[in-house]
Amino acid sequence: MVQAENIYKSFGKYEILKGVNLRVKKGSIVCILGESGSGKSTLLHILGTLDKPTFKKNKKTILKINGEDVFSISDKKLSTIRNEEIGFVFQTHQLLPEFTALENVCLPGFINKKINDKYHVKKRAKKLLNQLNLSEYENSKPEELSGGQKQRLSVARALINNPKVIFADEPSGNLDAKNAEKLHLIFFYLRKKFKQTFLIVTHNIQLADMADQKLKIEKGIIT
Ligand SMILES: Nc1ncnc2c1ncn2[C@@H]1O[C@H](COP(=O)(O)OP(=O)(O)OP(=O)(O)O)[C@@H](O)[C@H]1O
Ligand SMILES: [Mg+2]
Repeated sequence: MVQAENIYKSFGKYEILKGVNLRVKKGSIVCILGESGSGKSTLLHILGTLDKPTFKKNKKTILKINGEDVFSISDKKLSTIRNEEIGFVFQTHQLLPEFTALENVCLPGFINKKINDKYHVKKRAKKLLNQLNLSEYENSKPEELSGGQKQRLSVARALINNPKVIFADEPSGNLDAKNAEKLHLIFFYLRKKFKQTFLIVTHNIQLADMADQKLKIEKGIIT
C-alpha cells in the first residue's frame, strides 16, 4: 500500500531524513516511533504527499501509494488521490476555524468527486462524530473545543472519505487513557472492516505494542 525508497529531507544545512526505506502492506497498522525532533512528522508529511522530499542526483527516490508512483503523476491526479485515498491527521489538527465541527468533517466529502450526495456525507460525518464522542459539539467551532476534542475531530475528518490509507501524527497525544484506547480500537475496527491501512506516529506504548509493525526513526533512518 505504501512503498518508499531513499527518502531524504533537508531544511537548509540540516539533513533530517537520510534515506528512509519502508514498505507497508495493505490492511496493516504500523507505528512510527522516535524522539522529538527525529523527523517523524516530516516523514509522515512526505509519505502522505503533503510535502516533497529532497531529491538527490545519485539516488532514486520512490514513493508509491496503492501502486501509484506519486512523483510521476499529474498534480490533478495527485489531488484526487489525496482527497479520495489518503486521510491525514495532523499533529496540529489544521481545522478550519470559521467552520463548525460538522462542517470541518464534511468538507473533504463535499470535494470528493465520487460522492455527489451531500446528505450522505452529512449522515456519515454525524456517525463518525458519534463514534468519536463528539456529537454534542457538532455545531461548535474548533476554538471552542479542547485539545483532545480537536484531535478526535481531525480523526473524523481524515476518515470521512473512507480512505485506503490513513496517516496519523500522534492522534492520541492529547487524549486521556480511556479516550486514547477508544480511538485505537476504532483504528483496529476499521482495519478489520475495510482493510484500511494505518501509519501512526505515536509515543503510546500500548498502541505500538498492538501494531503489526513498529518502525523507529533514529539519526535520519529507520532502524
Ligand atoms: N519547515 C521546517 N523548516 C525548518 N526546519 C524544520 C521544518 N520542519 C521541521 N524542521 C526540523 O526538522 C526536525 C524534525 O522535525 P519533525 O517535526 O519532523 O520532528 P518530530 O519527530 O515530528 O518531533 P515531535 O515528536 O516533537 O513532533 C526538527 O529539528 C525541526 O526543527
Ligand atoms: Mg511531530
